Amino acid sequence: MNAFASGEGRAPFALLGCLLSLAIVAPAQAFGDVKGLSKMGYGKTKDGEAVELYTLQNGKTTVKIATYGATVVSIEVPDKNGHVADVTLGFDSLDGYLGEHPYFGATVGRVANRIAKGKFSLDGKDYTLAVNNPPNTLHGGKKGFNRVVWKAEPVESPDGPAVKMTYTSRDGEEGYPGTLTASVTFTVTANDELKIAYAATTDKATPLNLSNHTYFNLSGKGDATILDHELTLAASNYTPVDDTLIPTGEIVTVSGTPLDFTKPTAIGDRIAKLTGEPGGYDHNLVLDARAGAKATVYDPKSGRVLEMSTTEPGVQFYSGNFLDGTVVGRGGQVYRKHFGLCLEAQHFPDSIHHANFPDSVLRPGRTYTQTTTYKFSTR
Ligand code: GLA
Repeated sequence: MNAFASGEGRAPFALLGCLLSLAIVAPAQAFGDVKGLSKMGYGKTKDGEAVELYTLQNGKTTVKIATYGATVVSIEVPDKNGHVADVTLGFDSLDGYLGEHPYFGATVGRVANRIAKGKFSLDGKDYTLAVNNPPNTLHGGKKGFNRVVWKAEPVESPDGPAVKMTYTSRDGEEGYPGTLTASVTFTVTANDELKIAYAATTDKATPLNLSNHTYFNLSGKGDATILDHELTLAASNYTPVDDTLIPTGEIVTVSGTPLDFTKPTAIGDRIAKLTGEPGGYDHNLVLDARAGAKATVYDPKSGRVLEMSTTEPGVQFYSGNFLDGTVVGRGGQVYRKHFGLCLEAQHFPDSIHHANFPDSVLRPGRTYTQTTTYKFSTR
């Protein structure tokens, strides 16, 4: 359901898109001033809140983002033969996102990843969170930032079509201190990048860790594992975890372990060497402080390449281990183990309990910022 605001050669398609929209669902609305940006109604939450779906188109890339969970619903990019397909896992409609699912495309917060035992102390006060991933808190608790409707506004940016989504999390929401105002600005650039820029302020000190939980499958079909995708990570170290995926606090070299992706390696090559249940990668890699892409994924079959760069110190590399065939996604596709991978740029898990990890506390008067970019190309 694309409708484009302007652009030579696109007007007839915009008209056609609008007519189709009128005929099928809610009308798509184009923004006169922001080229490549349009929106349409995407339905309502169970509480009756209206949800919108934004389409951002630039270069060869089309991205759809829903205001529910500030969720990346789809990313359509060509393969080496020019065949365009969606390289994410997700659903055909809002209903899927409203149901149970493992954070497909979502913005996660207030604190992405785990907090041990759902408890922490800050400035001498104790806080208790929902234990939604026993025995720990995961991705913000019961109703994290992935389960709320964000307010959206189109943004005029020299980089390309952009939409800014804002959410104010009240003091005490999900047990966290302080009223936190967070924004996430999604931009699609002419270089086929999806740029995600976060900002946040608070009126009380709070732990904060925002991330995006898009599952990628560069085949563009989502009907097979990502074990043949080659991964390169600019990460010489990682943070080992206990059997509940809480870091031990050590920062250890990847050398000689299956986590060494400093040279391009197929994800499936050493995955069987990882112990524990359900098996697979679900680790925080400590990103090396050097310029350029921090993660590169290459799918030899389609030729698609994904490069991630970020201002964050870590990335949770997750190989879709908990996908077990219970979630039926786009086009009726059953998502099985390892059918998608996530590169969640973030601060280290459970940072609030580890003084040696980069600080993840936001204090009043300071502004949290993060920029993470996913760039698409072919080879
Ligand atoms: C993150 C976690 C995983 C898993 C997924 C959601 O990536 O690290 O352990 O919980 O989210 O299923």
